[in-house]
Amino acid sequence: MTRSFEKVGVVGLGTMGAGIAEVFARAGLGVTGVEADPAALERGRGHLEGSTGRALAKGRLTEAERAEILGRVTFTTSLEDLADADLVIEAIPEVMDFKRALFTDLDRICKPSAVLATNTSSLSVTEIAATTARPGQVVGMHFFNPAPVMKLVEVIHTVITEDGLAEEVAALARRLGKTPVSVGDRAGFVVNRLLLTYLNHAAVLLENGLATRDGIDAAMKLGVGLPMGPFALLDLIGLDTSYEVLCVLFQESRDRRHAPAPILRELVTAGLLGRKAGGGFHREE
Ligand code: CAA
Repeated sequence: MTRSFEKVGVVGLGTMGAGIAEVFARAGLGVTGVEADPAALERGRGHLEGSTGRALAKGRLTEAERAEILGRVTFTTSLEDLADADLVIEAIPEVMDFKRALFTDLDRICKPSAVLATNTSSLSVTEIAATTARPGQVVGMHFFNPAPVMKLVEVIHTVITEDGLAEEVAALARRLGKTPVSVGDRAGFVVNRLLLTYLNHAAVLLENGLATRDGIDAAMKLGVGLPMGPFALLDLIGLDTSYEVLCVLFQESRDRRHAPAPILRELVTAGLLGRKAGGGFHREE
């Protein structure tokens, strides 16, 4: 069966979820964005309005195009509104218990043919799938921050994913203007497995006093041609997300390169989560 994906749901409208909702709406799909409470829903709407507003200011979108994109997104606090979605993508915090509870609800609410996807950065897609009565229809669809800009989607299949589904989801990613890469279900998949090991090492070097924050950022940016140095990138990803991904990697691998640098835990404990809250390695001075 070849599915048609026209109506999608996005659960969780934080930085990633709102970006993902924008990507789908830009590609012409109808999007239902769900948040837990009205305040979070308004923040999600604000992300979308801000991001499309920047594009308008830069002349990348016309007023009419922006209105069309925003008009394709409806906002709700009720998961029940996802009953007729063809695909639902989850972008809630990286806590397995939250994800399991959500997928149990989605499985009950969504129509039997719907595909359920997770944007998890590192958690087991198989474990999430196993909480549903449709584990063959659960995949990972992992976007990168900022979702409207970054071209990659990791499409994660498990040992129980239905034959052909990963390819259908990859085709959807192409329709969104992204390049899909097919990946198996191992902690961190490809990008975070490699990237977080590097970012964590940068934090260790900073703690060891090898160079300053700005020195390390400049070295990697100018010496390697990366768009951002490691501390700017950690702040963009979010130190809480980075810390959580490293914990999952370390749990699976027991490789000390994945043991989160103590400075990361300290900053997270202090509420310095990066750009989205309080600054992180870089703060407003
Ligand atoms: N939302 C929407 N669009 C954004 C944006 C955002 N948050 N941030 C930047 N943009 C857009 C800008 O509007 C601009 O668009 P136009 O070219 O159409 O004008 C474009 O991106 C470039 O932005 P800027 O000129 O402001 O800045 P820049 O050239 O320095 O690029 C950047 C910013 C795209 C973030 C770039 O620095 C970059 O690519 N950084 C690396 C990002 C990266 O590695 N992300 C992956 C993180 S890992 C991850 O996400 C996985 C995980 O699970 C943790």
